[in-house]
Amino acid sequence: MRIAVIGCGYLGAVHAASMASLGHEVVGVDVDEAKIGALRQGRAPFFEPGLPELLASVDEGLLTWTTDPSQVAGAKVHFVCVGTPQMRGEFRADLRYVEESIEQITPHLAPGDVVVGKSTVPVGTAERLAADLEPTGAALVWNPEFLREGFAVSDTLHPDRIVYGLPTDNGVPTAAGEAAAAVLDEVYAAPLGEGSPKVVTDYATAQLVKVAANSFLATKISFINAMAELCEATGADVTALADAIGHDVRIGRQFLNAGLGFGGGCLPKDIRAFMARAGELGVFDALRFLQEVDAVNMRRRVRMVDLAREVCDGSIVGRRVTVLGLAFKPHSDDIRDSPALSVAAQMQLQGAYVTVTDPQAADNARVKWPDLRFADTPEEAAEGADVILLATEWPQYRDLDPTALGQVVAHRRILDGRNILDPIVWRSAGWTYRALGRP
Ligand code: UDX
Repeated sequence: MRIAVIGCGYLGAVHAASMASLGHEVVGVDVDEAKIGALRQGRAPFFEPGLPELLASVDEGLLTWTTDPSQVAGAKVHFVCVGTPQMRGEFRADLRYVEESIEQITPHLAPGDVVVGKSTVPVGTAERLAADLEPTGAALVWNPEFLREGFAVSDTLHPDRIVYGLPTDNGVPTAAGEAAAAVLDEVYAAPLGEGSPKVVTDYATAQLVKVAANSFLATKISFINAMAELCEATGADVTALADAIGHDVRIGRQFLNAGLGFGGGCLPKDIRAFMARAGELGVFDALRFLQEVDAVNMRRRVRMVDLAREVCDGSIVGRRVTVLGLAFKPHSDDIRDSPALSVAAQMQLQGAYVTVTDPQAADNARVKWPDLRFADTPEEAAEGADVILLATEWPQYRDLDPTALGQVVAHRRILDGRNILDPIVWRSAGWTYRALGRP
């Protein structure tokens, strides 16, 4: 199948390379010259485990990269994988890149072609785009993407579900919709053959599936972080509480890790865009709880700065603070809305002398917060520290040796922002151990 992928970020670059690895002939298009330049040389433009190997493994000639949108001509399937960031000063999603992509490919579409929306959009967008595409004779399918950064390659090649939002008439897929679905079945023959479940639905449901899933995940995280607040008020331990409630299969232990909360390019902006859309639809009350989900999440960052102040005898002004981790989660170099970077920056703004380190995200963070002091290793970062904050749970931080680290710091004080260290081990090595939601 000849495939075009428009937008080569965390989603599109992985999608393009994955589709080529399945034997399709793929062209990836992006406006960013640097990104396309790297991909052309077979280099991943960002850190994503498995992507360099995937790029190297694809048969020569099956995968090309370009900044020229006319190169999509001749593709049967066009995947729209561009970002939908939060609008500046508003909760709504900025749809400009989706709209521009559709405009760019429109002159090159032929009847029977399939445009596939993967970007996360407010419900109602697909219906509007389908109407715009009608004169071309191409069909639109809404096929949301659920990949997690850090696991993007395997999530793309082995998705836990595949959703097709098809054009419908009275609730029944139209003939053009059925034909488009058959084309997508060919594209996804490998994962479907492996048994990835397929859910066929209308446009509205497909668009809602994505934001509903992300809202549920965000709610689960904020639920456990709200419990952490209760634990702090009562002396209980949120990690034991999560283990205990997580044994109930109806609840499940995943996404019950309390700590600094969620960040990244998806969860925060998706719940906000969802609330904004609900407001436009006159059903804001249905999503009012997401305001609390957002508020609980943001409070964790403030609380962490307070905790740093508390262990530093009431003030962080002039104190040396070391922050381990800058990425919004491990196995990623993404710092978009990163709780780690947010807390590091806050402490710097409040007068602390902040040294940060991250195995992958330091370069991105340096561009955004050049005033922070950057170190290459945790040991270098911890030199002379009055307090250390573990903010992103990279495995190498989980495995730090408290005795060795204790040799380089000024004061043995550690704040476990992700609840992953063993308090007994650290306390026995002479450290003051504090965490959110733990005694
Ligand atoms: C998310 C969704 O998981 C994915 O399905 C969707 O396609 C895009 O958005 P991603 O942003 O890559 O993926 O990260 P995810 O693994 O969901 O983590 C999001 C944030 O929640 C991170 O900051 C992480 O540290 C935090 N988190 C996660 C917690 O604080 N506690 C948890 O228990 C789990």
